[in-house]
Amino acid sequence: MERTFVMVKPDGVQRGLVAKVINSFEQKGCKLVALKMMKIDRELAEKHYGEHKGKPFFTPLVDYIISGPVVAMVLEGKDVITAARNVMGATNPLQAAIGTIRGDYGMDIGRNVVHGSDSPASAQREINLFFLPEEITEWSRTL
Ligand code: CMP
Repeated sequence: MERTFVMVKPDGVQRGLVAKVINSFEQKGCKLVALKMMKIDRELAEKHYGEHKGKPFFTPLVDYIISGPVVAMVLEGKDVITAARNVMGATNPLQAAIGTIRGDYGMDIGRNVVHGSDSPASAQREINLFFLPEEITEWSRTL
């Protein structure tokens, strides 16, 4: 079963959108298997966004992501990476469709409420950066 890493960014936490964001994924059918609030340190932020190193927005992005708490989670399900990306909408909230998280709650590409892995390789890498194996709970739907 596929897993993906999702994070409510500092703007989402500060605007009180944590429950709405989690609800959007649960409502879609993504299974929540790990969840924690944390403050990211610079080292972790630079690793997490390592693919953007050298881009003009890299330092502001790192400064911003460590500026306040985030809520990190792991979601599981068939094709959950694509499902979660569809729930989030396009990276730039101005291009994200209404009905998606970024389309409904964002205006700024740097303050786009939520991050989600963009491929199986980045999902694996990001899950390993943020969660220990024992922090991920395996469970089955019985209802
Ligand atoms: P995220 O999904 O967290 O992955 C990388 C982040 O970089 C992205 O969301 C945006 O918030 C940010 N980002 C991407 N492109 C730009 C850009 N051109 N200017 C500022 N921030 C950007």
